[in-house]
Amino acid sequence: MEFKELVKGIKVPVIGMGTFGIGGGMSPDASHDKEDIAALRRGIELGMTHIDTAEMYAKGHSEEVVGESMKPFDRKNIFITSKVLGTNLRYNDLINAAKRSLKRLKIEQMDLYLVHWSNPDMPLKETMRGMEYLLEQELTRFIGISNFSVKEMKEAQSHLDKNKIVTNQVEYNLVHRNPEKELLPFCQKNKIILTAYSPLGMGRVVRMKIPLLDALANKYNKTPAQICLNWLISKPQVIAIPKASNIKHVEENAGAVGWKLENSDIEKLNRLAV
Ligand SMILES: NC(=O)c1ccc[n+]([C@@H]2O[C@H](COP(=O)([O-])OP(=O)(O)OC[C@H]3O[C@@H](n4cnc5c(N)ncnc54)[C@H](OP(=O)(O)O)[C@@H]3O)[C@@H](O)[C@H]2O)c1
Repeated sequence: MEFKELVKGIKVPVIGMGTFGIGGGMSPDASHDKEDIAALRRGIELGMTHIDTAEMYAKGHSEEVVGESMKPFDRKNIFITSKVLGTNLRYNDLINAAKRSLKRLKIEQMDLYLVHWSNPDMPLKETMRGMEYLLEQELTRFIGISNFSVKEMKEAQSHLDKNKIVTNQVEYNLVHRNPEKELLPFCQKNKIILTAYSPLGMGRVVRMKIPLLDALANKYNKTPAQICLNWLISKPQVIAIPKASNIKHVEENAGAVGWKLENSDIEKLNRLAV
């Protein structure tokens, strides 16, 4: 696995694992837990030790499945991110939500806790005070946000006394380029990690059969999914969290690292208009 620096001295794998759909969709469904746990464990073995979950996913069951999948491994070798719902952003609600997540994950401390979505009805200052409390109490090692604009990010940071927002998790993939306009340059300039969610466009990017992707897959003897992920992580400050329940997909995604696209091919993908 390859890593990028989250903060000085702390590194995260460039490819991690998403878990939306694991443990159920919008409500819990335990019928695929066994396969999902096996997929997550295989991914951890292959070095995709950053696991992204949220209290929203399967109404908490996704976190329970993640907790179960970690059991055979040394906790300190796994990097767990979870997220608080946009409706739990009041000071006490946020702290209680984080404690419930810890309980479901069966861990003492999360590595990273994110505000899942901004909510104009909740004062951001109060939310960030809650996030700082979690840091003080060592309930999480780092904090961040998700789906925030640059303006919202700056505002969130302005409410923090001594701590840093270490990531903004946003949708970013070959066919969804919004972050390239403002957010990615901002993160690169300020050395903040941009975590790319839906890095395969929920699988759509692979299903679209884009000729350039197929050609590059042929050239590098890789798969289209591996080309998509390698292109994302070729960008400074970007890490990705593809979700895969299928073990073959897990193995494929882990194989998106350890080699590099040539600059001219990165340029071609940059220019791709789909
Ligand atoms: N912060 C937010 O608001 C937010 C929003 C969306 C997502 N996320 C996070 O980001 C994670 C990833 O995003 P996502 O789940 O939306 O989409 P994604 O990772 O882009 O795509 C997942 C889909 O692609 C398939 N897939 C995975 N690897 C593949 C491969 N190598 N070849 C072909 N198909 C492959 C998966 O199938 P199988 O499962 O069958 O293997 C699944 O159907 C989420 O799980 C979640 O943790 C965060």
